[in-house]
Amino acid sequence: MKVFGTLRVPGDKSISHRALILGALSDGASRVTGILESADVHSTAGVLRALGADVPELASDFVIRGRGLRGLTQPSRELDCGNSGTTTRLMAGVVAASAVDATFIGDASLSRRPMGRVARPLEAMGARFELPSHGGLPMTIHGGQLHNLVWNSEVASAQVKSAILLAGLVSGVRARVIEKNKTRDHTERMLEARGAAVEVDDGSVTIEPHSSLRALDTAVPGDPSSAAFFAGLAAIADDGELRLEGVCVNETRIGFLEQLRRMGATVLETNRRLEGGEWVADLVISPGELCGGSVAEHDVPSMVDELPLLACLATRAAGETIITGASELRVKESDRIAATVANLRAVGAAADELPDGMRIQGSARPLRGRIVTHGDHRLAMAFGILGAATGNAIEIDDPECVTVSYPGFWRDLARVTSQ
Ligand code: S3P
Repeated sequence: MKVFGTLRVPGDKSISHRALILGALSDGASRVTGILESADVHSTAGVLRALGADVPELASDFVIRGRGLRGLTQPSRELDCGNSGTTTRLMAGVVAASAVDATFIGDASLSRRPMGRVARPLEAMGARFELPSHGGLPMTIHGGQLHNLVWNSEVASAQVKSAILLAGLVSGVRARVIEKNKTRDHTERMLEARGAAVEVDDGSVTIEPHSSLRALDTAVPGDPSSAAFFAGLAAIADDGELRLEGVCVNETRIGFLEQLRRMGATVLETNRRLEGGEWVADLVISPGELCGGSVAEHDVPSMVDELPLLACLATRAAGETIITGASELRVKESDRIAATVANLRAVGAAADELPDGMRIQGSARPLRGRIVTHGDHRLAMAFGILGAATGNAIEIDDPECVTVSYPGFWRDLARVTSQ
């Protein structure tokens, strides 16, 4: 398989959610360009609308008229978060600090995911939660004025950190989150850009009391987690070169690109620039003789969404790849450790589950068979990339599930590859 051409991957999912939420909470009009128009981001828009926010139909360029930090109103329906953990957890922080009672619901996958991780700190701030015994959805929150909090994060999660910061913001109180391993920092960057006093020091983030948030335009950069699929594709190609334009290269998001370089691919970064508080660059990736590598706990947050892809690429690398310290993968859209390993085996690769990761043996053997995504978009795309490698033939049970984060994925894959 040969790769060629230039691709502009869709807007960053994390920044898209936050542009909507912070736009709705600001005073005045915020223009958003390049937002990711995917199912997850539509979920955030829908939840904000149910809470009375003025969020128009998503488009490549639109304006949100914010109603201020206290502008949300009592919803008349349940808040449907679809498949989106980010919608649920970030909006839990906002709702917990607002004078509303609301019930969050979602699809079967989201309903199984742990919500205690946001309920515990938000309860410690004074909100009241009702959770089912399995700790997922439906989740009812009785929100209101909260108080200060210092929270030692139990898990490395930007969603939990963001929920606490947003709760502090809306309630106008001080909230501090201490994290062992730094997670993506888009919330803090975007809050600061809108005039909030956010203090970041080694290992913690603090938001100071505020009474308002300034409206600000956001140009959403390309999603590094979507770009990762095409960087991985170029790395295992037989020939060619792929250019990915306008990718967010925030240091909390580029662990996968660094890992790809360590494993032997050529990943060049050009035209690095600061756009709206985020570093953005164009990437040029070409194939290499890949060798196995290892990923440990402190590496995980900067490539958490890319680990199923890394496991797929590891089957095309010489030697063994071992991923540890990644038990968070078990509570993503699917159990990504169990599902990745089972699917790798189903297509003939050698892989083993570890309690907190996986071990993959590389070989030149063609991989063929059918995989089961469990509706998990990142599994569909990771195996789509592996299936594109020369000699492989992988059928995906539910290719449509990519609409969660990258609706045009299959079209883009066809556009940049030839046999
Ligand atoms: C996200 C944080 C990560 C990531 C998810 C998006 C965010 O989740 O996996 O896709 O936008 O904050 P965790 O916070 O659960 O690690």
